[in-house]
Amino acid sequence: MTHLRNKAICASGFHSPERGVIDVLDDVLISVDENGTIASIHRHGDPNYRTIRETRAAAGELVTLPEGSYLLPGFVDLHVHAPQFPQLGNALDVPLEVWLQKYTFPLEARYEDHAFARRAYRLLVDDLIANGTTTALYFATIHQDATRILADTCLERGQRALIGKVAMDNPLECPDYYRDASPEAALSGTRDLIDYIRKHPDNAEKRVLPVVTPRFIPSCTDAALEGLGAIARECGCHVQTHCSESDWAHGYVLSRHGMTDTASLDRFGLLGRHSVLAHSNFLTDKDVETLKIRQSAVAHCPISNAYFANAVFPLRAALEKGMNVGLGTDISGGPSASMFENCRAAIMASRMLESGVDPRLDAATRSTFGPARIDFRDAFHVATAGGAKSLDLPVGQFSPGYRFDAMVVDVCADKGAIRLWDDLDSGETILQKIIFGASRANIAGVWVDGRKVA
Ligand code: GUN
Ligand code: FE
Repeated sequence: MTHLRNKAICASGFHSPERGVIDVLDDVLISVDENGTIASIHRHGDPNYRTIRETRAAAGELVTLPEGSYLLPGFVDLHVHAPQFPQLGNALDVPLEVWLQKYTFPLEARYEDHAFARRAYRLLVDDLIANGTTTALYFATIHQDATRILADTCLERGQRALIGKVAMDNPLECPDYYRDASPEAALSGTRDLIDYIRKHPDNAEKRVLPVVTPRFIPSCTDAALEGLGAIARECGCHVQTHCSESDWAHGYVLSRHGMTDTASLDRFGLLGRHSVLAHSNFLTDKDVETLKIRQSAVAHCPISNAYFANAVFPLRAALEKGMNVGLGTDISGGPSASMFENCRAAIMASRMLESGVDPRLDAATRSTFGPARIDFRDAFHVATAGGAKSLDLPVGQFSPGYRFDAMVVDVCADKGAIRLWDDLDSGETILQKIIFGASRANIAGVWVDGRKVA
């Protein structure tokens, strides 16, 4: 398998442009133009299908996936802390506010060291790509140089990325050794990073985008939050932050600002069409309305939430209300770089929210929540098209005009965990087995913008 620019691929696979609908692709012909955009899709039975297939094959411009290989849109990971990768799978024994001070700030402070940054970021980006993640929304650190190294790494490795220099200047919540020196330093550092990414000589295609990134309200002074809102408006950048993640984080903002995270972020001008709020577990009905009006998105991080959130995000309700929602690994609050594992965790958490979990209670009273379950279709949608829509980027589905960001899942991989049975598995059930069983060993190829990146 090679680059697909100016070529066509003949593949079977799945995508989910709309929630609740899996479009099963059966030997479709996807033509990719010279820029990596999908030019056309032809299905069996379309009048030109045969001719196009034969013409492209004769010209040596047709790539055909082997039997047992399925094409899926690449994953959009809507929440990653790039610098936390070295502690992936560690440090999950304490609550969020202790975890930050005890493990995470000391680790992030090490990115002062360029060689460390280069090594960690290269390993992370390659691991995410190998797991099928073609777009990632990254928090970096407070450091200008290390954050630039992350942007360079994504450009070099070919991953689509949105990257923010983290702003955190509140001396009451951030340690002396890891903090922006002042609100002005947080703002000028944010501006410098935006300029660096936008003017990068290797970024003419804008595959890497800058993001205004207040860490969360506790980490930031009001002056920084206000200034970052102004920068977001002025530059038209994406915005990312954490919102009402845990009892402590939610309660902190209620007591400091006398309102919820959502209400406070809104008055600082930080909520817009291109804002992504990680977690958002404790949204009020009014918060949900605000996010819908602003068209801001939630990054649901189901694995991380099990360790730090003290609650389950009601994903189904959010989808039914028409909110923009994507899925995030929250590396390293979530100890997995795999979006497949996060799909499974989102499904499991939703089932537990619906049934309740305390076996001492009667079934009738075990949960007071009501219907909450999602299925593999919702999880797949949210991990691909949902994340893409949250970012307002033309990826996450196979449709003309969208970028060709995709992965191939080899369901026959010996070292993978998927086993299909000819007389049992067809159509959607194959996708279901992929969502529940796929591991890195099943991912046989990854493209971003029609370029082979793994
Ligand atoms: N809130 C503020 N910073 C962080 C972080 O790094 N991870 C998570 N999960 N929550 C946060
Ligand atoms: Fe996070």
